[in-house]
Amino acid sequence: MTIRVGIIGCGSIANQRHAPEYTNNPHVELSFVYDPNPDRAARLAERFSAKVADSWEYIVDHPDVDAISDCSTNEMHHVITTRALRAGKHVLCEKPIATTLEGAQSIVLAAAESGTVLMIDHNQRLVAAHEMARVLLQSGEVGKVLSFKTNFGHKGPEYWSINASNSTWFFKKDRSALGVAGDLGIHKVDLLRFLLDDEISEVSAYAGALDKKDEQGKPIEVYDNMVCILRTASGAIGTASFSWSYYGDEDNSTILYGEKGMMKIFANPDADIEIIKSSGERKHYKVGAIQTNEHQTNSGVIDAFVETIRFQGKPVVTGEDGVRALEIIQAAVESAENGKSVSTLPKHG
Ligand SMILES: NC(=O)c1ccc[n+]([C@@H]2O[C@H](COP(=O)([O-])OP(=O)(O)OC[C@H]3O[C@@H](n4cnc5c(N)ncnc54)[C@H](O)[C@@H]3O)[C@@H](O)[C@H]2O)c1
Repeated sequence: MTIRVGIIGCGSIANQRHAPEYTNNPHVELSFVYDPNPDRAARLAERFSAKVADSWEYIVDHPDVDAISDCSTNEMHHVITTRALRAGKHVLCEKPIATTLEGAQSIVLAAAESGTVLMIDHNQRLVAAHEMARVLLQSGEVGKVLSFKTNFGHKGPEYWSINASNSTWFFKKDRSALGVAGDLGIHKVDLLRFLLDDEISEVSAYAGALDKKDEQGKPIEVYDNMVCILRTASGAIGTASFSWSYYGDEDNSTILYGEKGMMKIFANPDADIEIIKSSGERKHYKVGAIQTNEHQTNSGVIDAFVETIRFQGKPVVTGEDGVRALEIIQAAVESAENGKSVSTLPKHG
């Protein structure tokens, strides 16, 4: 069975992850690509031997397309992904699932009613060190997790976007909506849920547009830095920091402090995972580096999506996971705006 795929949105993530990983998957034919910027679509199509479509609707309605990757900008996800699901296509939707809860819920409902696969690209779950960390945590290596610290920061999307400039959509409120929180933070709240197998129940946050300027030289409309304090349903407390102004190097580290020791993930250059027990015993695991903006390795996301379609399984990141991550990030933004802690327990039914 060959799965015929269309990619909607031909920016950096399509170029660096979706198109190459589909091309490397033996069960996939990359059929169509679309971007409102025709040059970007033409370049991607030429590089990966696909056809250019004149509209995204052409792809989602095409009878010979089985699945799509929604790599459009954030404000379009709920429009494109909902319509594609309702047209019977399987969808791998980029994160954040949507810019509003209503949009996210329309996607989840469309997936439930169509019976097709919906997966959200919270790729951090598929990073080998994170998969292994979850297994080690579940086997009790550091005991019950009491506290945690997770960070995700790099020098900013104006260095990553296909429009590598300070006019990038990532800096516009009506398109990115949630700034660094929806770009990087959403990965980390999803990762915490995955690693801890727990729900985030409460968040308090500080945030600001501390550094980035738009094309007029004014501070950008969305936050470029956010620091959160989080509580989980089982009572752990920890911090999460997200930044577009970590100059010099990326930070994608997570540290979990348990009753029997600590686990450091991507926090020691000599070990992807380091466990330090209260006895002083140290264990180092080398399982593979995480992707960085400069160095994209195979994310495993595309293969996981294809396998889910082929074997009619449950995706490793569901639409509901996408909704939960969005709810937590929206609560963090609300807390930063109102100066109060906000409950993040599920609001959806
Ligand atoms: N999962 C991850 O690790 C990860 C990493 C980067 C980006 N992303 C997400 O991927 C999406 C795309 O980001 P990017 O980094 O490729 O941005 P980008 O700026 O490099 O590219 C965005 C592309 O979307 C196109 N676009 C704009 N409006 C569109 C529309 N109506 N229909 C189709 N395409 C449209 C633009 O022309 C542009 O080519 C965003 O939602 C972003 O949050 C996810």
